[in-house]
Amino acid sequence: MKIVAYGIRDDERPYVAQWSESQNVEVKIVSALLDEDTVEQAKGYDGAVVYQQKPYTAAVLDKLASYGITALSLRNVGVDNIDADAIKRNGFKVTNVPAYSPAAIAELSVTQLMRLLRYTNIFDKKQAAGNLKWAPDIALELNQMTVGVVATGRIGRAAIQIYKGFGAKVIAYDVFRNPTLEAEGMYVDTLDELYAQADVITLHAPATKDNDRMINDESIAKMKDGVFLVNAARGALIDTDALIKGLDSGKIAGAAIDTYEDEVGVFNTDFGSFDAIPDARLKDLMLRDNVLVTPHIAFYTTTAVKNMVQFALTSNKNLIETGSDDSEVAF
Ligand code: COI
Repeated sequence: MKIVAYGIRDDERPYVAQWSESQNVEVKIVSALLDEDTVEQAKGYDGAVVYQQKPYTAAVLDKLASYGITALSLRNVGVDNIDADAIKRNGFKVTNVPAYSPAAIAELSVTQLMRLLRYTNIFDKKQAAGNLKWAPDIALELNQMTVGVVATGRIGRAAIQIYKGFGAKVIAYDVFRNPTLEAEGMYVDTLDELYAQADVITLHAPATKDNDRMINDESIAKMKDGVFLVNAARGALIDTDALIKGLDSGKIAGAAIDTYEDEVGVFNTDFGSFDAIPDARLKDLMLRDNVLVTPHIAFYTTTAVKNMVQFALTSNKNLIETGSDDSEVAF
């Protein structure tokens, strides 16, 4: 059996090597992501392991299938970049890694909220300029706030645990309710209720056609004045223009975003200088003291990366050997 693994970064190589040796399976490493230019490198392999940073187009998927590869294992959670028609048409079996480390995402999202609430970025800046004064940056306490968690899958639930530890009141919304949280009375019935009650809104939903730009002018208008927004889920959940308007008007007191609707080709790239970043809206956000931007790094921990690589390779091996795997994604 031979597997081709695309987009393998240096930090992933040792985990690929460990897995390949322990399983006695040949894994070809391709540093570039899977796309129309690199797809040919999959010829002669039985399965492909990939990760999300680019769309997997019909053209790419059709080519993979023409090489006899229909076992596709993502080493990330999200499947919103995949052409579902091409998957179905070619009879692909697709797996993801649904729980490489929910805590990694939850921890970053809470960290960024705490930085916003305690103005640590502002104090860092003031101190660098020799200013050690307190005022005017007097903070709010999380334990006095209501946190609204949108979506209570593994990551949302990991975030809830942390918020409870801080003593915050937590309310949640999801179409699929978790029985334990339900028993605790944590759910509100509608997003509007969550918007009306929450001082902090933290998004943990996958991107679907139903929630595209769910944070928009209309939903922001329903939120409390001075709301804080956190998005370490998917950029497509937030209409960036509406976010900017909400920040300009003061309706939104602060935002922490680890995902951004136009992040492809921008995040995880070194442009050499701030000016060279080719996205005016992103730069507008990055220049604000009450916005914290991180380039989709919530997943980027040693635990998560090891699990992403090794779980995905194991799933791909299972697909090749048996035609099925526990982490199969339905399209
Ligand atoms: C995911 O797992 O879906 C992520 O957002 C991580 C990223 C490497 C694509």
